[in-house]
Amino acid sequence: MKLSKLKNLIGRRLNQHYTKKGRMVAIFADLKDSEDAKGLRLVQEIKGETDMLLKHQEAFLIYKTVKKTEKIAGDIAEVGVYKGGSAKLIREATSKTLHLFDTFEGLPETTSKDNQQKFKQGELAASLEGVQDYLKGYSDVYFYKGLFPETSGPVENKKFSFVHLDVDLYKSTLDCLDFFYPRMTTGGVIMSHNYRDLVGVRKAFDEFFKDKPEIIIEPSGTSQALVVKTAVL
Ligand SMILES: C[S@@+](CC[C@H](N)C(=O)[O-])C[C@H]1O[C@@H](n2cnc3c(N)ncnc32)[C@H](O)[C@@H]1O
Repeated sequence: MKLSKLKNLIGRRLNQHYTKKGRMVAIFADLKDSEDAKGLRLVQEIKGETDMLLKHQEAFLIYKTVKKTEKIAGDIAEVGVYKGGSAKLIREATSKTLHLFDTFEGLPETTSKDNQQKFKQGELAASLEGVQDYLKGYSDVYFYKGLFPETSGPVENKKFSFVHLDVDLYKSTLDCLDFFYPRMTTGGVIMSHNYRDLVGVRKAFDEFFKDKPEIIIEPSGTSQALVVKTAVL
């Protein structure tokens, strides 16, 4: 067998093995592309140094999407920072201004639209000081502590090219969509974790985009949803 065929065969087997473990990202990546290789290394590194609540391929997709939206005007925001894992990934993918929102006291109250067995108020608390320390080597990162959208005042006149939502709950997700959708630049991307596996997040997206022109894209192998803002007519 030719060496190139053997390499392909081994690659496919490795993909199958790691996909089953929910850890496969190489299948999405062109490893000859040094940016992809950097992204993969970063995901591994961040997973090793903090509790990042994203699967490898979900984290990698964030990295890739941030890179792709770099050419679009606008700042970047994340709501649902927790210990700062996904924020570090975003910061490494771009040097654009990054706005980070979290209560830093854990989840707010759930509603009847959430799976109330799954979440408790105050769960997933991480201290602002801890995250600031984790991200201390980076510039142009701004932190907003408190319940979103109450903390949105300082960015109400900004435009965004990429927004990452990871807030777990119906009301938080809906409030984020209400705020960010009209502030997205054409071509900008709103990406959310847990669209497939958390009922509240799914409901919020489905309700919000029901009467909008954009479609909700569900990238395969992840729980995520992403929406690309169409032109404002
Ligand atoms: C799943 S964690 C985020 C995980 C993080 N993105 C990561 O990759 O490790 C969810 C976070 O959302 C925050 N959160 C949920 N609703 C919020 C709201 N309305 N305003 C601010 N923070 C919120 C919680 O405090 C919690 O830190």
